Amino acid sequence: MNDPRLHPPPIDGPADPTRRWFQHAVFYEVLLRGFYDANNDGVGDLQGLREKLDYLQWLGIDCVWLLPFYPSPQRDGGYDISDFFDVHPDYGTLADLEGLLHDAHQRGIRVVADLVMNHTSDQHPWFIESRSSRTNPKADWYVWNDDDQRWPEARVVFTDVERSNWTWDDRRQQYYWHRFYSHQPDLNYENPEVAETMVDLVRFWLNRGFDGFRLDAVPYLFQRDGTAGEHLPETHSYIRRIRKHLEAEYPGRVLLAEANGWPADVADYFGNGDECQLCFHFPLMPRLFMAVRREQRYPVTEILSQTPEIPDGCQWAIFLRNHDELTLEQVSDEDRDYLFSEYAKDPRMKRHMGIGRRLAPLLDGDRRLAELLYALVLSLPGSPVIYYGDELLMGDNMYLGDRDSVRTPMQWSPDRNGGFSKADFAQLYLPPLMDPVYGFSAVNVEAQQRNPGSFLHWLRGMLVHRRSLPMLGVGSMDVLDCPNPSILAYVRAGEVADLAISPEGRLPGTAPEPTGSPLVVPTWEAWEEGERSVVTPPAGVVAPDLVSLGRRHQTVLCVHNLSRFAQPAELALARWAGQTPVEVLGRVPFPPIGDDPYTVSLGPYGYLWFELVEQAPDPGEGAG
Ligand code: GLC
Repeated sequence: MNDPRLHPPPIDGPADPTRRWFQHAVFYEVLLRGFYDANNDGVGDLQGLREKLDYLQWLGIDCVWLLPFYPSPQRDGGYDISDFFDVHPDYGTLADLEGLLHDAHQRGIRVVADLVMNHTSDQHPWFIESRSSRTNPKADWYVWNDDDQRWPEARVVFTDVERSNWTWDDRRQQYYWHRFYSHQPDLNYENPEVAETMVDLVRFWLNRGFDGFRLDAVPYLFQRDGTAGEHLPETHSYIRRIRKHLEAEYPGRVLLAEANGWPADVADYFGNGDECQLCFHFPLMPRLFMAVRREQRYPVTEILSQTPEIPDGCQWAIFLRNHDELTLEQVSDEDRDYLFSEYAKDPRMKRHMGIGRRLAPLLDGDRRLAELLYALVLSLPGSPVIYYGDELLMGDNMYLGDRDSVRTPMQWSPDRNGGFSKADFAQLYLPPLMDPVYGFSAVNVEAQQRNPGSFLHWLRGMLVHRRSLPMLGVGSMDVLDCPNPSILAYVRAGEVADLAISPEGRLPGTAPEPTGSPLVVPTWEAWEEGERSVVTPPAGVVAPDLVSLGRRHQTVLCVHNLSRFAQPAELALARWAGQTPVEVLGRVPFPPIGDDPYTVSLGPYGYLWFELVEQAPDPGEGAG
């Protein structure tokens, strides 16, 4: 361990002078309980995730988003927290967590934690004390009222299970406020002690080494008479307060807002670049599913046109699936009916206001369609977030309750329990999938790693290509005119710097950087400072020394066929006349662009990514 390269790279400061690693990161969402069970008690744990970091490094992701790992009665998948300052004993100890963060950082992988600020479990000692009387020291830590009529404008989120945001407490003889389940009372942010304690909480976890937080259910922190209690100025000002702490004490750490709303409302969580660096783009997600079923680009282009410019230094987080249902809150009633009829043919697939299924079953197992949707998520503006198991096209179990349908154990191998755990089957937190289509004997990491034609290898390859095209993360976006409504084509462009990794920058024994040298990164990586610097390490490289090879413009053309039939695409590319599109996956040059519409043909659900270059490369330099 004397080799300095084996020390954790600094997660702020020199490793990323501009602190913008998140703008070109690929996130990977991990359900700890379901990932890998290292101590064979039937529940995934921190040590298990630690043992699988090699896999994540191989896959090529940049940042793990760790779902809640705190002590909890687990009535809402751990979002019902009974102690914010500890680790659930099923998952291990604080020391295990620190070990995980250390090992992840050694591999150049960052880790953000889910931070549930809005509410606690009703088993939390704060709530037990608060409900015990109207005069105890924590009496005002939650939101109490004598009747259940206050704030009638505030919507109920889980309309299928909760009737009201107020629940009666017999002991205190008052109602308490909750935006989610009635066993999750909301904290009272008007109380300065609560507000201060949650800042301490942020510090506590950043000091353990987390690279930031996903801020769960962040729109609801405050309430105010006459409003729906969402996106209030008070909430924004509290987020700014947290961000100030990050800037002052933890530069380079990030906040990712979970705010399910219309793009213009959600963009407010970027503030003026002084709130969250990242926000999930919720409305885009159902529209991707809508677009491929209607075979029309309109749902996607329409929501993109309603998506405001975001401040410098910010980024959308975009995704296909996550640990919750495919939420249909942000679509019209008519579109919701359509999506339910197309994607939830069996009413048991419905969950809250959405569909409790994973990506592959939603697509009827159509791999071409899965590739198309990933090609979109990897090239639209934003940082992609992959839900564990979706890199394998894992299935779901609609017969399990609530969100458990999409939270079954990760499928590592065809062995007992899918290689997830050596515990007795009956002891597992949930049964693994065993059906003939998506069960672990058919779908698992081991088999897909051995099969170069697998979806897993395909996705890994796409992440490699995306890494060489940083403009897919941060470039400008121009949607192209095309008479064929099934074609969604756009150009992403901007300045990049070409860098070479110095030979000392690579960890012994790691695979060579698959794109080869030079490495391409956006110019914002603070090149003004000189010829040599260090930047965010790519997968397999720890805190490398990088040598600048110069700057250039990068233009990427992405063309997608949303139809299940082959389609022609006539693209208005006259602005780029004279340039040659070089197909990204094979580096094959296509005919140069002229003044007439540029025509390409795409197979069913086909996609083509091109880099536009000034000079046609020699065709002999293509793949092969
Ligand atoms: C977030 C989580 C969801 C949870 C809810 C309440 O929306 O993603 O799983 O139920 O918050 O905590």
